[in-house]
Amino acid sequence: MDIIRALKKAGNDSISGEELGDRLGISRTMVWKYIKALGEEGYVIKSLPGSGHVLVSAPDKLYPSEIMDGLDTSIIGGDIRYFDEVDSTNDIAKKMGSLSDEGTVVIAEMQDSGRGRKGDHWVSPRGGVWMSVILKPNVVPAYAPRFTLMAGVAVARAIREFGIEASLKWPNDVLVGDKKVCGILTEMDAETDQINFVVIGIGINVNVLLEDLSEDFRSSSTTLSEVKGEELDRIAFVQALLRALEDEYVRSKTLGFSSILEEWKSLSSTIGRDVDVVTPQRMISGKAVGITENGTLLVETAEGMEEIVAGSCIHR
Ligand code: BTN
Repeated sequence: MDIIRALKKAGNDSISGEELGDRLGISRTMVWKYIKALGEEGYVIKSLPGSGHVLVSAPDKLYPSEIMDGLDTSIIGGDIRYFDEVDSTNDIAKKMGSLSDEGTVVIAEMQDSGRGRKGDHWVSPRGGVWMSVILKPNVVPAYAPRFTLMAGVAVARAIREFGIEASLKWPNDVLVGDKKVCGILTEMDAETDQINFVVIGIGINVNVLLEDLSEDFRSSSTTLSEVKGEELDRIAFVQALLRALEDEYVRSKTLGFSSILEEWKSLSSTIGRDVDVVTPQRMISGKAVGITENGTLLVETAEGMEEIVAGSCIHR
C-alpha cells in the first residue's frame, strides 16, 4: 500500500520500478508483484517500459489502507477489518469484541443479513457504508443507549460536512428531510454492573441506488447520492465519520454525556414536533419536548408528561 501512497503523491508523474523498490526497500521483482496484485484489487496502474508507473484510478472500495491514509484519529479506526460480503458486521464485531482493541471497525461492501432494530432486516446493498465500531467504555449497561445518540450526532455531523442537512429522529434514525438515510443498532456484551464492550452498528445509504432498497423502505428512505445528485467519495465520508465519532466519544468522556445531549437536541428534528410513538404497550401521541440523560424521550400529552424508553417515533 506504500506503493499506492507513493503513486498518489506523484500524481501524473511516473515513478520507475527501481525508485519504488529503493523507497520501499524491496526488489524490482517484488514491485512488479505488488503492482500486479494491486491491479487485481481494482487499481488501474499504467506501466510504461522505460518510464515507470502512474496511478490512473483507484477502485471504489472501502479498503482499510485507503481509509487509514490520512486518518488522524487515535482511538477509532486503529484497526479496520474489511469484508466484501458478510451476513452482518455487527455479528462479526460481537464475535471479535472481547479480543479487539477499542475503536476497532468492521466494515463491509454489502451485508446479506444486515440487522435493524426490533429484529428487522436491514437492506445493505453495494454503495452503502455498513460498519460496526467496538467501544469499551467504563460505564454501566443502562448507559448503552447513550452510544446510539452519540453515534447519531457523529453521523449527522459527517453528512453535514458534505453539504447535506441531516437531522436526528429519536431514537436512532438520521434523516434528510423526512426520509431516513441511516439507522444505528447498538448492541452490548455486559455483566450486570459493567459493559465489556458495545458494538455500534451504523448503516448509511451513501451511494446506494433507491431501486436497490426494498420496496417497503423506498418511500420512507433516501440515499446521500440521491439527495446530492452525484456520488459521494465513500472513503472521505468514512474518514469524516470516524473523526466525528472519535470527537464525540472523547467529548463524552471529558465533558460528560450532557454535552452530547445538547448537540443531539440541536440536530434533532424530533424535539418540538408533534409525534406518535408506538411503544411495545401502546401508542403515545403528543409533543416531543425533550430527551433525558438516559436517552428516553419526553412527550407532553393531553394527560401529562410521558417518559418513553423505547418505541418507534412517527413525526406527524
Ligand atoms: C435500524 O434503523 O433499524 C438500525 C439499522 C442498523 C444497520 C447497521 S448496518 C451495519 C450494522 N450491521 C448490522 O447488521 N446492522 C447494523
